[in-house]
Amino acid sequence: MRYRYSIISTWLLLGICCMLLNTNTADAQRSSDSAMYAFVNHLISQMTIDEKIGQLNLLTSDMAVTGPSMRKQYIEDIKAGRCGGIFNAYGPAYVRHLQSLAVDSTRLHIPLLFGFDVIHGHKTIFPIPLAMACSWDTSAIAHAARIAATEASADGLNWVFSPMVDIARDPRWGRVAEGAGEDPYLGSLIARAFVRGYQSNNLADSQTVMACVKHFALYGAVEAGREYNIVDMSRRRMFEDYLPPYHAAIEAGAGSVMSAFNEINGIPATANHWLLTNLLRHKWHFKGFVVTDYNAIPELINHGIAADTFQASKLAFQAGAEMDMQGLAYIHTLKQLVEQGQISMDALDRAVRDVLIAKYRLGLFEDPYNRINEDRAQREIMSPDKLRFAREMARESIVLLKNENYLLPLKKTGTIAVIGPLANDQRDMIGCWSGAGDWHKAVSILEGIREAVGNRAKILYALGANITDDTAMLRRLNAYGADIHPSSQTPQQLIQEAVATARKADVVVLCLGESEAMSGEAASRADIHIPENQRELMKALYATGKPIVLVLSNGRPLVLTWENAHIPAILETWFLGTEAGHAIADVLFGDYNPSGKLTMSFPYAVGQIPVYYNHKNTGRPAMPGVKWTSKYLDIPNDPLYPFGYGLSYTHFRYSSIRLDRQEIMPGDVLHVRVDVTNDGDRDGIEIVQLYIHDRVADVTQPVKQLKAFQRIYLKKGETRTVEFSLTAKDLQIYDRHMHLGAEPGVFDVYVGGNSRDVQSASFTLQ
Ligand code: NOJ
Repeated sequence: MRYRYSIISTWLLLGICCMLLNTNTADAQRSSDSAMYAFVNHLISQMTIDEKIGQLNLLTSDMAVTGPSMRKQYIEDIKAGRCGGIFNAYGPAYVRHLQSLAVDSTRLHIPLLFGFDVIHGHKTIFPIPLAMACSWDTSAIAHAARIAATEASADGLNWVFSPMVDIARDPRWGRVAEGAGEDPYLGSLIARAFVRGYQSNNLADSQTVMACVKHFALYGAVEAGREYNIVDMSRRRMFEDYLPPYHAAIEAGAGSVMSAFNEINGIPATANHWLLTNLLRHKWHFKGFVVTDYNAIPELINHGIAADTFQASKLAFQAGAEMDMQGLAYIHTLKQLVEQGQISMDALDRAVRDVLIAKYRLGLFEDPYNRINEDRAQREIMSPDKLRFAREMARESIVLLKNENYLLPLKKTGTIAVIGPLANDQRDMIGCWSGAGDWHKAVSILEGIREAVGNRAKILYALGANITDDTAMLRRLNAYGADIHPSSQTPQQLIQEAVATARKADVVVLCLGESEAMSGEAASRADIHIPENQRELMKALYATGKPIVLVLSNGRPLVLTWENAHIPAILETWFLGTEAGHAIADVLFGDYNPSGKLTMSFPYAVGQIPVYYNHKNTGRPAMPGVKWTSKYLDIPNDPLYPFGYGLSYTHFRYSSIRLDRQEIMPGDVLHVRVDVTNDGDRDGIEIVQLYIHDRVADVTQPVKQLKAFQRIYLKKGETRTVEFSLTAKDLQIYDRHMHLGAEPGVFDVYVGGNSRDVQSASFTLQ
């Protein structure tokens, strides 16, 4: 059914005429914007206060056994114009039904937004974001986001709660799985790539979805890695390390921002005027709208800065939180707050305008059903080309952590024992936050291996262990919605069977790690080893003397100190999505040469956390054998595997660095060149990384900061000169007055295949 809101065509016509009259695109943009503002302002002028507040109310749909459902009261709310958007509802028929309730039953026929957590794919599930980040392939990530947008929009959605761009240095926090890792530079590029992929160039295109940058801000720095905990951070650290990716996403045009659950230095993000208004609106010129996280407004009462929902609403609204996600706070309090003069009608109109503009940009006033298309859903969702790309994305995301004596790649001959709780497992492969993903369609590691070898090799299988035998954890995971069923065999029986299986094989592919429910939201872990019972299995298998390839599936960096010391080959595969098993088999057998590099340091021990590559030097940098220097008595300072680290089946040799000059002036470009040779016996991809260090500055600087990288493909024996260009902009720092600028002085420049093993040179900025 076509939308009946006749005034829209007049306004659109007006806009189009204005555009035709203007030859210049900037002018055309301005006039189409003015048509949009005119339309939206006219609409607001017709709205009652209840209708306005309704636009700021975001309600959830539920999932019943029989399929998607909507609480009765919410249906009434939609029909009465007390709802501006729905989340957790998808599927063409269902979305069409809900949209028609809003469009047909309300006085002004204003369409709804339909949001969902499309975090790493909609139906075709890609690797978890932390894994995709390890590809360092921003065009591939943008393409994955584009595919997610195509599928999500075909399923009726017009808004995704992604990208999650929280910088994270603490792997105990389960949500590290959802972000890009620890580096602000790479994190910013990835944030942009996601926004570009989701929104394309034209939000009105029915194959796009509006992005929602989250969690604004600093959620990745929750104290002790404990979920929903507080954040206390200096402005310096915010601007240097944590804020850049949010800013990048906003500069890329993200249409919405989600406020974070955490407080920032005593003021919860959702009620933080400095954050949501001064920084976001005034400094960064954000033009979209801000939605809170789930129930975050009432939670201001628990935070202890509001006595009741009225006060909570007032604080959140005045701070700049415009849409209330499932807190039901605005809908119950804003009217009274406006009537009492505590919130002005102008302020209310501003928030409503931002939401309506988003709907306008999405083309919903022209056609509220523009994204609901059964045929497209049938045709597009999980189409072969999408699955093919998911497999490519997945293999690019795998990181080879260790490969003693080139145990990998394996031959597709002999007898291979595939053992472990994650071997014959589809559910966990798609990882956390895979809302609409169907795990029954995921390829398990065992299946991937079987398919790859056909009848050339004999494949044996044993479960070996449950995901965990920690009954308290298991109870919690299952109570929170996981569906983990331990085997009826005892742990000893499982291990015995696995050992017997391993003895019959030439090599063991040992699939260990975490359940998907052990990372993501509300999944912090204090102990980030592989669960103890799985490690017992590993030790028993190690004792057989069989060569072991450890294939890890997990959502965060783990402590792998024992594994690194004993197991000859270790492959970090994260949770790779629908095509996991195929991608892992591609790498195991060398059909794809691994190229991923870590974007989060793997700690040597939990006691090191937070451990990250871009740390400061201190006044007493660690010196072996010198007591009074900054170090531990019992463990090294360095992580087990550093940022940027990852091996290949081939080997890359770096020449020393060549600079085209030793001194540069502020307007100059410095060229940094290095020859990279593939001196192994396979073609492969190397991610060449460039770091800098400002030796003496107004304010202490990190020992290294990533400033550029290139992902290059080299044939075996090939040498390529990789050239980077640096300008004074790359050397900018925040001085002690928080002014951004480059200071004259000496800089070290490092180039290498990870943040630890680098070539170095230096130059002077005059
Ligand atoms: C809470 C999570 O923190 C957020 O990331 C998510 O988008 C919302 N719930 C909606 O599901």
